[in-house]
Amino acid sequence: MSAPLVIDSKTQALIASSVVALNCGELVGLPTETVYGLGGDATNPLAIAAIFEAKGRPHFNPLISHVSNLEAAQQEGLFSPLAIKLAQAFWPGPLTLVVPRALNGQVCDLACAGLSTIALRVPDHPLTQSVLKQFGRPIAAPSANISGRPSPTTAGHVADELGEKIAMVLDGGPCDVGLESAVVAVLGSTATLLRLGGLSRADIEAVSGPLWSPTDQDKASPASPGMVLRHYAPKAPVVLSQSSAENGAILIGFGSIQADPAFNLSPSGSVQEAAANLFAFLRAADALSPTAIVVAPVPKDGLGEAINDRLVRASEG
Ligand code: TXA
Ligand code: MG
Repeated sequence: MSAPLVIDSKTQALIASSVVALNCGELVGLPTETVYGLGGDATNPLAIAAIFEAKGRPHFNPLISHVSNLEAAQQEGLFSPLAIKLAQAFWPGPLTLVVPRALNGQVCDLACAGLSTIALRVPDHPLTQSVLKQFGRPIAAPSANISGRPSPTTAGHVADELGEKIAMVLDGGPCDVGLESAVVAVLGSTATLLRLGGLSRADIEAVSGPLWSPTDQDKASPASPGMVLRHYAPKAPVVLSQSSAENGAILIGFGSIQADPAFNLSPSGSVQEAAANLFAFLRAADALSPTAIVVAPVPKDGLGEAINDRLVRASEG
């Protein structure tokens, strides 16, 4: 799909509508060369919460942030010489690079599931490239299917499955590759293959040299490849389902269980709002070096299941 393509005026109008919807925090089905993505503003945690809700994921997986080129990717992630080499060889194309997050990146914590790494990709599709350029910010997009179902490769698949939950689908024809992107983590001078996909191992290794597998972490030193799979865990112990905090602990509230107003996940009791705030609040609370982080009970319905899953992991970490 890298061949030049003239975009007619009707399609231009649909691209403009997609950009308006994304700017309003709504979700848009977007064509890429791999599979259709369920796109949302990667800088807006409420839009990201809506993605998780629409997909019905029981836990928060980190999402891929799509950008228009390497320069835009470097606003969000730290690219080592090896990462730059891979990006130059395969972008735009079916390769996702997981790199350390840039300090002043705009992508929100929820899109990265609270990790200190970020997955970035430059998709090779003229319509989505055009959306990315006009939108001007990263677009988070997992495959546009309900969790557990096959990834969609036509606009019709997306409309059938998610039609009621999204503003629109931008029809860019059937996907050329039909398989998700390959995911490679580059945290220093080694590259680790995290997911096989639309690029073969041999193609990637021709550029990167031998790829590590996630289980090679034992052999590694400080920037261990296994680190990319580890979730952010607060330094302070996390205590769940309590409604008050004492002796230097901080309370993260929910609904009527008050905390410092800066730490109420959702005063109105919305799990969507709570999801949007969760990772940022854990980080902010941890930064105050409390003796513990106490979290009020959060209901388990809808996105609450993923919130509770993440909190249980944090309390065990
Ligand atoms: O082809 C594709 O990659 C499609 C299109 C829409 O671009 N997107 C896609 O996204 O397949 P998704 O969310 O279904 O898959 C994202 C993959 C997951 O395996 C996730 O665990 C991994 O990327 N990932 C994202 N961020 C990561 C991170 N910081 N560390 C490790 N893995 C990460
Ligand atoms: Mg998927």
